[in-house]
Amino acid sequence: MDTSNGQTRASGPVLRPDMTLSERADAVEEHLLEQLNLHVAKSVLFTSGELDPTQPVNRIVPPGKQALMGDDPRLPRMPDKPTLLDFFKYRFSPSQNHLLQSANLALKNGHDEKIIMACLLHDIGVVGFIRSDHGYWGAQLVAPYVTEEVSWAIKAHQALRFYPDESVGYEYPEAYARWFGSDYEPEPYIQDEYRRARDHKWYMTGRLITLNDLYAFDPNAVVNLDDFVDIIGRNFRQPEEGLGFDNSPVAHMWRTMIWPTRFL
Ligand SMILES: [Fe+2]
Ligand SMILES: [Fe+2]
Repeated sequence: MDTSNGQTRASGPVLRPDMTLSERADAVEEHLLEQLNLHVAKSVLFTSGELDPTQPVNRIVPPGKQALMGDDPRLPRMPDKPTLLDFFKYRFSPSQNHLLQSANLALKNGHDEKIIMACLLHDIGVVGFIRSDHGYWGAQLVAPYVTEEVSWAIKAHQALRFYPDESVGYEYPEAYARWFGSDYEPEPYIQDEYRRARDHKWYMTGRLITLNDLYAFDPNAVVNLDDFVDIIGRNFRQPEEGLGFDNSPVAHMWRTMIWPTRFL
């Protein structure tokens, strides 16, 4: 152990008393990668915003290191043939609670399984992939595995969220005024999407997502994913090969969630 510079140093990571919890976590991760001699490069999208993507960044694999091309040792390992439930368990963030609570509300409100399923999946873009335009990403992720109506509704909720519908008691979310400012106006492409959705035969399916989309959700309420296993079984065509390996048009998107840090 070397304590000559005030740091505790054995074979483990360098941890100083003044480090925050997240700095410590970073140090532990770096140490793990160091030991495995692995180099992890961050995708441009992961840092865009924090860094200006047009500026040069050193993405060269350091000599003597190997670029990460498989499982990231810092992440829970996924089964070889992952199911939707495995993604909930091993890849989706704790905000999946919002999905469970929305699905639970739809269940309590007596909606059919189609609506419950749409509510359960409506924000998987946010909880597992990319926030921006999450309705579109989410709809695409599930399109091969649910009915066309469910994936259409998930896409539509992106725009419908911004527009009240008094006929069903849906008001503009009070939280949006706080988050985006009282004068926020959706982009023209969202306005167009809303107009198209308004006239669509499945409008009410998309609208019901927004109606059961709990914003004032209770972070302490416990809804168990187990309660929805049967509904998922009946309404999500789980591919035999596993999500990511069924050669569907969106398989690569699921693989990216399995291996988000793969070099290529
Ligand atoms: Fe959403
Ligand atoms: Fe939501």
